[in-house]
Amino acid sequence: MQIGTIVYIVDDDNPEEHLIRRAAKILQEGGTVCFPTETVYGLGANALDENSVEKIYKAKGRPSDNPLIVHVHDKNQVEEIAKDITYNAKLLMDKFWPGPLTMVFKKKDIVPLKVTGGLDTVAVRIPSNKIALSLLRESNIMVAAPSANISGKTSPTSASHVIRDLLGRVDSIIAAGDTSVGLESTVIDMTGEVPTILRPGGITLEEIKEVIGEVMVDRPRDDKDKDFVPKAPGMKYVHYSPEAKFVLFMGSVENMTENIRLRAKEEIAKGNRVGIMTTTENQQSYMDIREAVVMPAGSRNNPYSIGREIFRTLRHFDDKKVDIILAEGTEESSIGVAVMNRLKKAAGENVVKV
Ligand code: TXA
Ligand code: MG
Repeated sequence: MQIGTIVYIVDDDNPEEHLIRRAAKILQEGGTVCFPTETVYGLGANALDENSVEKIYKAKGRPSDNPLIVHVHDKNQVEEIAKDITYNAKLLMDKFWPGPLTMVFKKKDIVPLKVTGGLDTVAVRIPSNKIALSLLRESNIMVAAPSANISGKTSPTSASHVIRDLLGRVDSIIAAGDTSVGLESTVIDMTGEVPTILRPGGITLEEIKEVIGEVMVDRPRDDKDKDFVPKAPGMKYVHYSPEAKFVLFMGSVENMTENIRLRAKEEIAKGNRVGIMTTTENQQSYMDIREAVVMPAGSRNNPYSIGREIFRTLRHFDDKKVDIILAEGTEESSIGVAVMNRLKKAAGENVVKV
């Protein structure tokens, strides 16, 4: 039974070996370890042991039909758990691993159905974060790990997020610095004729196309089709919900600014505490609305900085106890596709096109 959580404070650049060894031992003994990756923090356990995997679902409160990503440290390990590894898959591994790309293959029997949510496929990636790699190497265990948040909440990009969500629910947490990508990995299904992106993430469609040519993208959920079943089961659940109501504005910067200003004033008049999520370039546009909490999430000139900041910014609004968050959307190209995918999920029906 879970009686307490050990927190290891580890240096990102020079992970303390003796601490990594202790965390590795917890994995080997069937326990749960939260650890940083370059995308978001993960909640890991031995992927090949059902009882260990069960602890992940329990700690997160995650539906058991939502499959987990298996993290490995060496390309050769993929063959132990996956079948039919195509030439395209090898090209993608060579180009993007270690890094924020997850590939889905037909699974081998050794992988418990508990990990794959009952599917006959398995998702795999090699993360590039130093601590993640040394933990995987030291334990020599393949580690199933979803994002280390309570199911439905925003993904954790700093140790404090993990501690807030999971302290007392996991065996240990490796607390290090903030994650560098800030958005989860891209998930691509390699089992079909044409590789298909199931979840946009840290590696863009354009980057993948450059390596393997033809790529498809699984239909996004916002097509209002009740029968639509996304191929990545995780994409059908409520996700990334801040505590406050989240409203996403989409349109030109000028129109978004004008409409957010109006709405902010309306909400303030109603007595609501308002958060405004903008960019460094545009934050001065709201400075006269003194009652609002105005937070830039990165810079419009550098879409990757927006990716890095969005989850952190959403959690910041929670800390400030706002009632409603009014957010500027960003351009849906390159990494902006993944950013907008997360923001639209956070917004649900609350999207305002201006
Ligand atoms: O960056 C990341 O991917 C982070 C870090 C910790 O590696 N992990 C992460 O895991 O985001 P999670 O569980 O929050 O999201 C995994 C996504 C879900 O949408 C899930 O449905 C999908 O990957 N997935 C996993 N296995 C799959 C499979 N066999 N077939 C289709 N989709 C799969
Ligand atoms: Mg997640």
